[in-house]
Amino acid sequence: MKVTVFGTGYVGLVQGAVLADVGHDVVCVDIDAAKVAALQAGRVPIHEPGLAPIVQANQAAGRLRFTTGAAEGVAHGELIFLAVGTPPDEDGSADLQHVLAVARTIATHMAAPKTIVNKSTVPVGTADQVAEAVRAVLQQRGAPIAFEVVSNPEFLKEGAAVADCKRPDRIVIGTGSAAAEAQLRELYAPFNRNHDKIVVMDVKSAELTKYAANAMLATKISFINEIANLAERLGADIEAVRRGIGSDPRIGYHFIYPGVGYGGSCFPKDVKALIHTAKGVGFTPDVLLAVEQRNGAQRRVLAERIVAHYGGDVRGKTVAVWGLAFKPETDDMREAPSRALLQALWAAGAQVRAHDPVAMDEARRLFGERDDLVLCDTPLEALQGADCLAIVTEWKIFRVPDFDQMARLLKDRMVFDGRNLYEPAVLARHGLGYESIGRPGVAPAP
Ligand code: UDX
Repeated sequence: MKVTVFGTGYVGLVQGAVLADVGHDVVCVDIDAAKVAALQAGRVPIHEPGLAPIVQANQAAGRLRFTTGAAEGVAHGELIFLAVGTPPDEDGSADLQHVLAVARTIATHMAAPKTIVNKSTVPVGTADQVAEAVRAVLQQRGAPIAFEVVSNPEFLKEGAAVADCKRPDRIVIGTGSAAAEAQLRELYAPFNRNHDKIVVMDVKSAELTKYAANAMLATKISFINEIANLAERLGADIEAVRRGIGSDPRIGYHFIYPGVGYGGSCFPKDVKALIHTAKGVGFTPDVLLAVEQRNGAQRRVLAERIVAHYGGDVRGKTVAVWGLAFKPETDDMREAPSRALLQALWAAGAQVRAHDPVAMDEARRLFGERDDLVLCDTPLEALQGADCLAIVTEWKIFRVPDFDQMARLLKDRMVFDGRNLYEPAVLARHGLGYESIGRPGVAPAP
């Protein structure tokens, strides 16, 4: 089928490439000329496992093209995806200006019936607004062309985006139109072979499904972080509790890992936006408000712990930080807990030596040159001259370090682990002090 995707961010680029990969004829449109030029040359601007090879292969096969030409894009696709950003507004609501601008662009150029498919995460009621925007422009043009607006939310995870997109666990289609449903069923048939993953519903329910999914997952994380705080104060071990509750299939093992709070481009933004939506209809979302509050506090835990360890004064201390990306397998630092940690340490007068396997360029871009930050090429280099270590992202290469070397290099032999990567007894054996999340701490050997 002929498909056009507006927006070549995580969602649009991955979706476009994966649709081309099963044989659809895809044009991706973006207003960022530099990005389009890079993509045309086969350079993928984001770190996402498996993405560059499928972009390059499908470009070479002529099934995937990139352009800044909106008119060309609109002419091409019978299905036109909206996958542009919905950044949070100052009040936490999702900013729809990009979505509505693309809607008007489509309406300006369309000469034949189109099905507009919304993939961006947008508040309930946005499909109606998109339809309204398209209708207004068509009316101005005096062009009574038929169109449908469908909600088809994306559930991919960064770092596993290609795999998630190729093997979705569900495909939500929000539409009241049998013709649009049939088009999307045909589009997704290659992804829907073993059992029917397609869930058809009305547009508003599809829009709410996306927020409900992310809010539910954020709730699980804030819940386990709350229990971790309790475990610490009660002398219990959250890792034992986690395994104990995860074995109940109604709870499950997924998304109950305690840590330094959720980050990334989705959870913080979507929880805020859903709170805003709820308030807009006169409803107080008690659970969501608590989820967000717990997350805000959780992001401060590691810094507070380090400062408390030094009796409230970290001036002149150097903290090694392992992990800057908001999670492994990505260079994305949007709402990354590392940023909260670094800001708190700097505000308290500490120096930072940081390493991340892929987010170093992003860190350079975000922080620039500063006297209190050294970006190090290896985890080991970060430890050199540091007093203690803080772990923020659970990259695989941090899982089995040389503890003896760590104990030799860290002046105060203290490890503050925001991801519970190690067994406390192992660090104790190597003479290292260890504080993690929701577990009893270990003091460094005298
Ligand atoms: C999320 C959803 O998983 C995805 O379905 C949706 O489409 C977009 O938002 P993503 O933001 O890429 O995806 O990352 P995810 O792996 O879900 O992690 C989100 C955050 O939660 C990370 O900061 C992670 O460290 C944290 N997390 C996750 C925990 O603290 N504990 C857990 O048990 C799981």
